[in-house]
Amino acid sequence: MCFLIHLALFSRAMSSAATTPPSVDKVDGFSRKSVRKAKQKRSQSSSQFRSQGKPIELTPLPLLKDVSAQEQPELFLKKLQQCCAVFDFMDTLSDLKMKEYKRSTLNELVDYVTVSRGYLTEQAYPEVVKMVSYNIFRTLPPSDSNEFDPEEDEPTLEASWPHLQLVYEFFIRFLESQEFQPSIAKKYIDQKFVLQLLELFDSEDPRERDYLKTVLHRIYGKFLGLRAFIRKQINNIFLRFVYETEHFNGVAELLEILGSIINGFALPLKAEHKQFLVKVLIPLHTVRSLSLFHAQLAYCIVQFLEKDPALTEPVIGGLLKFWPKTCSQKEVMFLGELEEILDVIEPTQFVKIQDPLFKQISKCVSSPHFQVAERALYYWNNEYIMSLIEENSNVILPIMFTSLYRISKEHWNPAIVALVYNVLKAFMEMNSTLFDELTSTYKSDRQREKKKEKEREELWKRLEDLELKRSLQSDGIIPT
Ligand SMILES: *[C@@H]1O[C@H](CO)[C@@H](O)[C@H](O)[C@H]1NC(C)=O
Repeated sequence: MCFLIHLALFSRAMSSAATTPPSVDKVDGFSRKSVRKAKQKRSQSSSQFRSQGKPIELTPLPLLKDVSAQEQPELFLKKLQQCCAVFDFMDTLSDLKMKEYKRSTLNELVDYVTVSRGYLTEQAYPEVVKMVSYNIFRTLPPSDSNEFDPEEDEPTLEASWPHLQLVYEFFIRFLESQEFQPSIAKKYIDQKFVLQLLELFDSEDPRERDYLKTVLHRIYGKFLGLRAFIRKQINNIFLRFVYETEHFNGVAELLEILGSIINGFALPLKAEHKQFLVKVLIPLHTVRSLSLFHAQLAYCIVQFLEKDPALTEPVIGGLLKFWPKTCSQKEVMFLGELEEILDVIEPTQFVKIQDPLFKQISKCVSSPHFQVAERALYYWNNEYIMSLIEENSNVILPIMFTSLYRISKEHWNPAIVALVYNVLKAFMEMNSTLFDELTSTYKSDRQREKKKEKEREELWKRLEDLELKRSLQSDGIIPT
């Protein structure tokens, strides 16, 4: 991915160097994407072909509001049963009337469950779950692009969304209803149901994933007996994602749910939760498509550290271990996450990791990539980080000094040099004695180096002279 960006930047430089004015596409460094966008029409797909062939006939029922209160629960069940009929949306011409009828019925059901009126009889629960299952559980449609790349390609949208959206809407209102009783629902919303629900998070359609996020969050909140199971399954999805497929569309959404789950963990943290952090969340940083879920991942990490500061050392150790070696865009993300962590770090924890941490930061500051160096230097604008550095200046100054001093003398980019001067100035103010010591050590080191170089050159020259003299002697041109 990063390779592509570099290529794009390179081609941008090439095209602006050309004599003819570059076309709009060429100026755009990310032209591949924009060209595709123009060519491709929005793709839609669906795997709901169950009805293929025979037309579906639904006998229109009276509106719920038009029947007496006693008749409503019965009619509600009938409408739920009708909505189990699934239409083929890839065929835009079939069953038009019935599709419209189902749409209006679903709308009516949404309104009906929103207002609490004692409609939720025990018989309604299995019918609700059945209707929802018939509509949402399906094999996800194959992607339009052979190798769907979420960073580059337009997602394939679910064609049956006009119905599907209302089913999700209905289900959420049902789960959120004041009359809703988990003790009855748990017979139908069980582990198998949750497993199928989790599989749907791989949907390419972001609208669907957004609804799923709310659904799963509600289920996690209301069904205590399913919580451990849900966490374990998410754990499995992530492990498969990191170590096998590197492909799953709903990672960001699952992490978002996890963020609020972690928030609710009781203290002290269970070993199981710590394991999840170290064995799953940290390795997630190695995935190629990190940018798609990095914000949510960093949020989860910070949640963990706020719960239990003792986890700081393994977390930062993990980030340093997986530090990106070739991708500057990823490095910038890591630096952003580290700053979020430093924002909440406890001084006693900071002391434990400052040495390896600032060795890495020192490398980043000297990075040839402008964005990486700049991102690292921005740390010095952060008051809390500055106060930590000041408290530990005797350790951090010596680590950082050489890189900074060299950059201030040699870097090509004036913006970076200006930032570095500010950092050096701050260091000088922190401890001028130490600063002067480091400066003179640096200078004498440099001088010693230069002197050594000079000596080496002189020695070389003398050897050459000697060689020349010897060959002249052996040729008898000069006397021995
Ligand atoms: C400044 O640095 C010197 C030399 O490392 C050290 O002895 C001294 O304690 C430091 N002063 C402060 C105020 O930290």
